[in-house]
Amino acid sequence: MADGEAQFAMASAVGAGSRTGGQRPLVMVAAWWLAVVLGASLAAGCGSGDSPEVAAGPEGTPDPVLVAGREVFIDRCASCHGAGGGGTGDGPGLDADRLREKYAAHDELAAVVAEGRNRMPGFAGLLTADEIAAVLRYVNEVL
Ligand code: HEC
Repeated sequence: MADGEAQFAMASAVGAGSRTGGQRPLVMVAAWWLAVVLGASLAAGCGSGDSPEVAAGPEGTPDPVLVAGREVFIDRCASCHGAGGGGTGDGPGLDADRLREKYAAHDELAAVVAEGRNRMPGFAGLLTADEIAAVLRYVNEVL
């Protein structure tokens, strides 16, 4: 019985193959779809990490410091603080207003990032002072 089914399946496959014309465009459409779907997911994967983009400034281009800060945030911070800064089980949400109340001076905030605190690792050896300043500007001004 299984043999019979296999033979039937082969016969239909051959039949479909010999009915040329109709088959090939279908394959091309399928390949095209695959390319579109793969392309889209690759672009989404590399590009954003879902952290909000930096909006264009008055000159029509985004502030390069904020763009650099966003890259640092996606690479180093989003895993614990969430792509949008809303927090995860590994790190608290980073709310700009609350941070401004809690840390009077930029230096205090930079020190938390450089030196770490409790379960937050320090980034002094991994990021330059400029990168820390940039990521904090991104947190405060964009997130
Ligand atoms: C491994 C997880 C982890 C990573 C990665 C991480 N953090 Fe944190 N972060 C934490 C935790 C946990 C705290 C809370 C520390 C505490 O006060 O006990 C915290 C606290 C903070 C605070 C202070 C928040 C507050 O309300 O006082 C800031 C600001 C901050 N992180 C920024 C960053 C930045 C910027 C990065 C990337 C350069 C980063 N964090 C990367 C886990 C992380």
